[in-house]
Amino acid sequence: MPRLENHTAIVTGSSSGIGRAIAQRFASEGAHVLLADKIEETRGGGPTTLELIKQSGGAADYLQTNVASWEDLSACVEHVAAKHGRLDIMVNNAAIGAGGRLTKTTEAEWDETMAVNLKGVFFGCKAAAQQMLTQNPRGEVRGRIINISSQHGMISSPNHLAYGVSKAGVVYMTRQIASDYAPDGIVCNAIAPGKILTNMGGHVPTAEQTAYSTSRTPWPRLGQPEDVASAALFLASPEATYITGENLMVDGGWMAS
Ligand SMILES: NC(=O)c1ccc[n+]([C@@H]2O[C@H](COP(=O)([O-])OP(=O)(O)OC[C@H]3O[C@@H](n4cnc5c(N)ncnc54)[C@H](O)[C@@H]3O)[C@@H](O)[C@H]2O)c1
Repeated sequence: MPRLENHTAIVTGSSSGIGRAIAQRFASEGAHVLLADKIEETRGGGPTTLELIKQSGGAADYLQTNVASWEDLSACVEHVAAKHGRLDIMVNNAAIGAGGRLTKTTEAEWDETMAVNLKGVFFGCKAAAQQMLTQNPRGEVRGRIINISSQHGMISSPNHLAYGVSKAGVVYMTRQIASDYAPDGIVCNAIAPGKILTNMGGHVPTAEQTAYSTSRTPWPRLGQPEDVASAALFLASPEATYITGENLMVDGGWMAS
């Protein structure tokens, strides 16, 4: 039996990269997925995530969404609740990587990074939790929130101050929400990817950046979006119910070395 049959999910940043893989994986396991991204086109061309899911017999909708907007994220949750009566899984994945090291980071870069990476996760968690609190539990759980953090946020993000600070905030936010809402049956976890091959933000890594990631990763390859999707499926499933407030590394051992 599909592991997410009759479940509903929202995945932000689902048009490209890791979010696309999570959305496809959830749909392949029977979930109805709302694809929430500021642009529908997949970076580099090819079928959209919506088209891919529909081609393989899955169920999904796309809603143009800027995660830095409370109105947009509320609209996503309202859409799912109106159509299906409940929201089971919220994945806050969308993020950007603007900025440099401290003395190179402008106020505008700082504000933009925090608006998307930190406020966007706050809005996503809040809109989701408001809905989850109104619905009956399935077994023990009213709903599950999965936030995508990063190893950068636990250790320095070379030359990306604002990004690292935003991800540290996501890890803390995850713990606090897990603790505050455990009595209400809301499970909240994070996933911290190491180096995943996505060309995040449309930037092809330089040879120097790839060499750095490779040198930091004990596993003999870098990560694929599907590696993160597998972890997300686990945290979205009933098997992960007594796991909350966790920040699960999917990093080929980066943080272990
Ligand atoms: N790729 C990596 O190596 C890596 C490592 C650690 C953490 N992460 C995290 O994984 C997540 C996904 O990264 P990725 O590599 O897939 O990035 P990506 O750039 O490939 O995909 C990000 C998606 O988010 C969307 N997006 C960007 N800003 C948005 C906004 N304001 N509102 C809605 N959607 C928006 C983009 O359109 C895109 O579809 C991010 O949270 C990132 O910080 C990635």
